Amino acid sequence: MPGSSRLPVSLRETFNARKSSPRGQLVALNIDVLRNIIFILFLLRWTRKLFYQLKGRGIIGSLVDIYTYSRRTLYGIFLRLPGVRTKVEAQVAESILKLQSKLVPQGPGVERTLTLPAQGWSTEAVQKALADLEAMEHTRWEDGRVSGAVYHGGDELLKLQTEAFGKFTVSNPIHPDVFPGVRKMEAEVVSMVLSLFNGPEGAVGVSTSGGTESILMACLSARNKAYHERGITEPEMILPETAHTAFRKAGEYFKIKVHLVACKAPQYKVHLPSVSRLITPNTVLLVGSAPNFPHGIIDDISGLSRIAHKKKLPLHVDCCLGSFLVPLLAKAGFESESFDFRLKGVTSISCDTHKYGFAPKGNSTVLYRSDAFRKFQYFISPDWSGGVYASPSIAGSRPGALIAGCWASLVKQGESGYIDACHKIVGAMKKIESAIREKPELSSDLKIVGRPLVSVVAFLSNTLDIYDIADGMSERGWHLNALQSPPAIHVAVTLPIVAAVDGLIADLVEVTEEVKERERRRVAEGKGAKGAVRGDAAALYGVAGSLPNKSVVVDLAKGFLDTLYKA
Ligand SMILES: *Cc1c(COP(=O)(O)O)cnc(C)c1O
Ligand SMILES: *[C@@H]1O[C@H](CO)[C@@H](O)[C@H](O)[C@H]1NC(C)=O
Ligand SMILES: *[C@@H]1O[C@H](CO)[C@@H](O)[C@H](O)[C@H]1NC(C)=O
Repeated sequence: MPGSSRLPVSLRETFNARKSSPRGQLVALNIDVLRNIIFILFLLRWTRKLFYQLKGRGIIGSLVDIYTYSRRTLYGIFLRLPGVRTKVEAQVAESILKLQSKLVPQGPGVERTLTLPAQGWSTEAVQKALADLEAMEHTRWEDGRVSGAVYHGGDELLKLQTEAFGKFTVSNPIHPDVFPGVRKMEAEVVSMVLSLFNGPEGAVGVSTSGGTESILMACLSARNKAYHERGITEPEMILPETAHTAFRKAGEYFKIKVHLVACKAPQYKVHLPSVSRLITPNTVLLVGSAPNFPHGIIDDISGLSRIAHKKKLPLHVDCCLGSFLVPLLAKAGFESESFDFRLKGVTSISCDTHKYGFAPKGNSTVLYRSDAFRKFQYFISPDWSGGVYASPSIAGSRPGALIAGCWASLVKQGESGYIDACHKIVGAMKKIESAIREKPELSSDLKIVGRPLVSVVAFLSNTLDIYDIADGMSERGWHLNALQSPPAIHVAVTLPIVAAVDGLIADLVEVTEEVKERERRRVAEGKGAKGAVRGDAAALYGVAGSLPNKSVVVDLAKGFLDTLYKA
């Protein structure tokens, strides 16, 4: 290769020339200047990073960050040491197998359909199989045994929704000329939700497949807006640590750096001074929840709104869970806090029609103060060979049936229907709350987290292992939600739970008594390992809580996801 020697030669020439000719000196000078500029830029960048790290987290906070990071890394390395690794892997595999035996029906009697039947089944056979699938043994949500999960609006509504499905099964809003009714219903759903949240003149929205998509869209819009208007290429957002994990998903999907802000006792609301300190020129979005999922606490949205307005930053309020309850608290006669578009700093709100709107699962809305925000979530491809393509959110084709089901639910319930549901649901939450605060059998060991105002009530214990209580409740057929940091459990009250709430309190009293008794015996027999057999929640969270590096939990969770697809 004759050409390959040319570069070094010319470099050598430059190098030699540097020392001799004036022109060479100029080149040398230019290289030096360039080098210095690059060095200064580099220095500036890191100084800036350091400055904002110290401003955001303080010296002690930064030291804590470094400590946590080192511990996590070291523990991660420890987990990967040859001897340790095989042991950990074996244990993870064992746990996953146990999980599989619970989730995937096994045995000779179980029929599986793993390939397409060569001949289609008869209608009767399909109907029978569907009935059997529905009747598989499960935690009884029908009897109000499941926290959250099933946001049921009653049997009459269910029938109406099914009817709506039937009429619009094949419809797809991507073709508004073919399905004009679906387009009309979708627009009306957004308008109804906007009015519920006091959308100002010019407020707009989009409907999505669920709370997660609504949140993803709000984050995407904020990121894109900041890029187009402020040239931000390294976006950051600031979340309460209790904000729904969909925001962390958005951070991962859209490469937005996430800053978490503590929500400390006794209020468990996002700490506003920390939010202010974490704002940098790269911040694209602030977030608050009304209420949050873990504790059912409404963040100080007025305070967040003041910060957002002053700093000219978008503020998203997550009302996915609050949905049709939180806007109607006052009308239902309960205490309320400001959270909606009447606060001038609030720029977007997510509201799940499929939670307390009682719409069929797969429906939510994201609302924006104006089109200046919404337009940044749209996807438009003007030059695709398939034609000019435009879609408002992640999905392409979408089920018109769900839109019809959602629309039917909203107009059937009406404001009075939702106020009535709010009465029942928040009333039942308060019943659980006062039982825990006031019944001596409960109040001596359980403590309510913050001051819940909506449908979720969370509690922890300073004397007992709260996960043992969760497992005790599971044994009695209840499915409550286990929470972590701090260890706690919560009940998200739904209409089916309203009817079962007295039974829930009675069982909670008995389980607490049992766990206390077991604890007493354990202490009497001398401190030792905890009771031999521990329940699922205690086993998982008891261990996970103390791990500096949760890669084992990540492996377990991946195994769980894999299991979901074992036929
Ligand atoms: C349920 C929930 C979401 C996400 O909703 P999905 O519909 O499950 O995607 C977001 N935020 C809060 C507070 C929630 O409770
Ligand atoms: C665990 O530690 C390793 C490095 O030691 C790191 O790469 C990994 O991200 C950590 N995992 C978690 C979940 O903290
Ligand atoms: C309902 O759900 C579908 C998909 O899950 C979504 O595309 C549609 O926009 C939603 N409609 C309403 C009115 O919320």
